[in-house]
Amino acid sequence: MNSVANSREVLPIIRSMKDADIDSVAALEQVIFPDPWPRAAFVEQLKDDMWGALVAEADGEIVGYACYLLVHNESHLTNIGVAPGWRRKSVACKLLERILGIVTEHGCDILLLEVRPSNDSARAFYAKHGFRELYRRPNYYRRPVEDALVLVRYLEPTQNES
Ligand SMILES: CC(C)(COP(=O)(O)OP(=O)(O)OC[C@H]1O[C@@H](n2cnc3c(N)ncnc32)[C@H](O)[C@@H]1OP(=O)(O)O)[C@@H](O)C(=O)NCCC(=O)NCCS
Repeated sequence: MNSVANSREVLPIIRSMKDADIDSVAALEQVIFPDPWPRAAFVEQLKDDMWGALVAEADGEIVGYACYLLVHNESHLTNIGVAPGWRRKSVACKLLERILGIVTEHGCDILLLEVRPSNDSARAFYAKHGFRELYRRPNYYRRPVEDALVLVRYLEPTQNES
């Protein structure tokens, strides 16, 4: 880890994911998740207008990423991950803020997501950002099998976190 990664908060560049980022993102996904998305999932979503994907770049490397889906007035945070050495530095916060701005501009009034009940760090992150539990979806995840908690954040039409 370098000197920037050692500081409490970093100022990553948040930008759209490009085809050229997919190898790095897919490699990070393998490190982060026990049931990672295949590389093809990132390739497919970059071709689809309903999907969006962002990366966080610091010191020329991708340190985090997040994906979302737009469905009429609903939006879904489908993936978010930060490289282990870059956590607790507001990287995910900056990705989420950008997505909240984008989906609000698209006229969405809710942002939904699923999280494993055992994922304490992600649940703490979502609670900090105003997500509330809607319901539990049994046996949603594989490797390992686990329920999903479906969380929601209600959006104000003019809202834009900063
Ligand atoms: C969840 C995740 C994306 C958070 O990324 P991050 O960049 O570390 O998050 P941020 O620094 O923006 O936010 C930190 C806040 O989230 C919460 N949080 C994050 N990790 C936490 C942990 N291990 N324990 C307690 N709270 C935690 C806290 O509220 C924290 O605020 P604080 O540092 O002021 O206490 C990251 O831990 C991660 O990549 N986890 C693995 C992938 C994953 O689970 N993704 C979500 C799938 S649903």
